[in-house]
Amino acid sequence: MILQHRKKSRILIAIAKEENKRTDITAVSRCKNSIEKVFLKKGIKPETLFLQQKDFKNTESLKARISDINPLYIVNLFEGFSNFPQQEADFVRLLEDLKIPFTGNGSLTLLNCLDKMRTKNILKKNNLPVAPGFFVRNMKQVKTRRVNFPLFIKPCREDGSWGVHNDSVVYDRKELFSVIQKRLRFFPQGLLVEEFLPGKEYSAALIGNSNYKVMGISEIDYSKCHALQKHKRSSCKRHKAVPFLTYEAKWNHRALNYRLTMPDYTPKINRTLRRNIISLSKKAAKALGCRGYFRVDFREAFGKLFVIDINPNPDINNDSGYLRLAYGKGYTYAEIIEKIVQLANYH
Ligand SMILES: Nc1ncnc2c1ncn2[C@@H]1O[C@H](COP(=O)(O)OP(=O)(O)O)[C@@H](O)[C@H]1O
Ligand SMILES: [Mg+2]
Repeated sequence: MILQHRKKSRILIAIAKEENKRTDITAVSRCKNSIEKVFLKKGIKPETLFLQQKDFKNTESLKARISDINPLYIVNLFEGFSNFPQQEADFVRLLEDLKIPFTGNGSLTLLNCLDKMRTKNILKKNNLPVAPGFFVRNMKQVKTRRVNFPLFIKPCREDGSWGVHNDSVVYDRKELFSVIQKRLRFFPQGLLVEEFLPGKEYSAALIGNSNYKVMGISEIDYSKCHALQKHKRSSCKRHKAVPFLTYEAKWNHRALNYRLTMPDYTPKINRTLRRNIISLSKKAAKALGCRGYFRVDFREAFGKLFVIDINPNPDINNDSGYLRLAYGKGYTYAEIIEKIVQLANYH
């Protein structure tokens, strides 16, 4: 086993050095600590490779730094920087050039999945079901569009529901214009406007480099949110229940929407639907060239499934959704980390 031999070789855990209190960002350093513990139990002390924005101004010196260490492999927890998520892919590209094994997904997959419009086009080309939608970068692009309400507005190049708020679903042109205008100020790289899919949300956790294995499927049932939303349509926007995962719903344990949208990690899903989710996840992963560990997210609308998001290198904290599904399959935290590390060696 990779975690048990060649103890003298250096193993690096790559992580961003960034002072940011965003919960999705601090989650990464928590993850590093948990993974370190797994290694320490095997008698191996990994080192940390801290990455700063300035490293990307002179990648030759970053390359030299890594080459000098010549690690056996890199456990890649680097997700880019809060204002530069694309550097997640740049870093992996650099490791590919150096031919150093690393955990998780390759640079092209990361690059494509960081851009939701690009992901959507690749999925569409591969005949996978996606929500009808379009990309906007300025108000002119909205004016000429014929659209079916309600619509959902999300940043094209973010993840972790960053930029998804209670007002992300819009019911008429006035709301559409107002939310797009507001959001473009924060996300000038562009937004994705999609038909709103009101049904259940599913997330499939997968592992593997090409022979993918689905470890489990979680489900979010939004019926309580739909009911409360109808009931309280006119109440304070900040505290209303909404039937989708906002940033608050994903990361703020005290938020109303966090409580209302807790995923069920052992849902009763009928056999046909389960088969459908598994088959679509694998096809979507293949289309995007996913490897290592990743999640494929779906939403249902009127009895049909749509792929809404592909998450290469998702959160692998010991309390993350990915791990909860793995525990359901009987794996321990250490076993999953070991599997992820083993897959790194086949890049
Ligand atoms: N077309 C859509 N219809 C309904 N809800 C959506 C749609 N797209 C995204 N969502 C909701 O927004 C959340 C975040 O969107 P997603 O595309 O998964 O981006 P992120 O990369 O930020 O997770 C999803 O978990 C889902 O609840
Ligand atoms: Mg998502």
